[in-house]
Amino acid sequence: MAIPLPDGLTTPALVVDPDVLDRNISRMAEASRSQGFTLRPHAKTHKCAQIADRQLRAGARGLSVATISEAEAFARAGVDDLFIAYPVWLDADKARRTRRLADEVALRVGVESVEGAQRLGDAVRGSARPVEALIEVDSGTHRTGVPPHAVGGVGKAAADAGLDVVGVFTFPGHGYGHHPQARERAARDEERTLSEAAQVLRDLGLDIRVISGGSTPTAGRWRPGTVDELRPGVYVFNDAAQLAIGSCTSEDLALVAAATVISTPAADRFVLDVGTKVLGADTSPSVTGYGYLPEFPQATITGMWEHHAVVRLPEGVRGPSLGMLVAVVPNHVCTPVNLADELLVARNGEVVDRWEVTARGANT
Ligand SMILES: Cc1ncc(COP(=O)(O)O)c(C=O)c1O
Repeated sequence: MAIPLPDGLTTPALVVDPDVLDRNISRMAEASRSQGFTLRPHAKTHKCAQIADRQLRAGARGLSVATISEAEAFARAGVDDLFIAYPVWLDADKARRTRRLADEVALRVGVESVEGAQRLGDAVRGSARPVEALIEVDSGTHRTGVPPHAVGGVGKAAADAGLDVVGVFTFPGHGYGHHPQARERAARDEERTLSEAAQVLRDLGLDIRVISGGSTPTAGRWRPGTVDELRPGVYVFNDAAQLAIGSCTSEDLALVAAATVISTPAADRFVLDVGTKVLGADTSPSVTGYGYLPEFPQATITGMWEHHAVVRLPEGVRGPSLGMLVAVVPNHVCTPVNLADELLVARNGEVVDRWEVTARGANT
């Protein structure tokens, strides 16, 4: 585990190792570049202008975001090429804000219904720059997205609404599954479904030039040829779920929650001052409990309250003493970052910088 926690830290706090972060960023950038993929990392993981800047300087083409307010936050921070990789449903306020973004930055937006496409078309008609639409395809996650054979109706509606339909995208979330082949299969699913969907749209006469896929688990499983743009997010920090499914090693963990032992009620149990308000409550089919403690790998976080994490140890394993600082690797790193105001940047046990979570709580 790479992050020695600074002494005297006020906890809970999220602590980032900038060297591990930079290595994760450059490794993904290099892997994408060498295979001819455009990298458009998903910024919902870090929500942080300094990290976006590092990704862009390493060669990312632009950023992917999940919400209009994340796009607004990164546009304010100077990022001028943004893809809202989400099938937005525009109410009056969101329509106004999307139109403003379209006047300011190069904007792509996800579409997966005829009605959604019409609302988006109405909102951005006459904007300074034409908004590009990517049709969302369901590659097996069964979240949002249309089956590849059915993209024609949505694509045509988007084009009729005046949008520039440039491509297709998918999120291969089923790559997070427990099966040892889940990552490989999800990568193949995204290639197959995106390629079918792109052909359906080309047959309608649309000029499809962006085929966007990717997630952290399918990173390293990509084959050049079909997909041309990748949107991994979690890879910047990694987390306990990525470690458990083998898409990173413990050397690649760039963020931990620093916690203090506030109670040692029994030999096999201790309590930390991080709860759901800091770590979130995400679970993963591949992780037992609510996080991973690198210094106590046999420990399990069995219970979470708002401000408490209860940790169990197997019999005979010695735990930390009262007042000790303990690092917790979150199960799913995006949630704690979204709950934090700032990230402490620490090198060799010293806080060297503090980065604001620029798009904190930007969820509309
Ligand atoms: C649409 C979309 N693209 C890309 C990603 C990034 O994938 P990951 O979080 O596995 O890095 C996500 C994550 O949820 C997503 O929803």
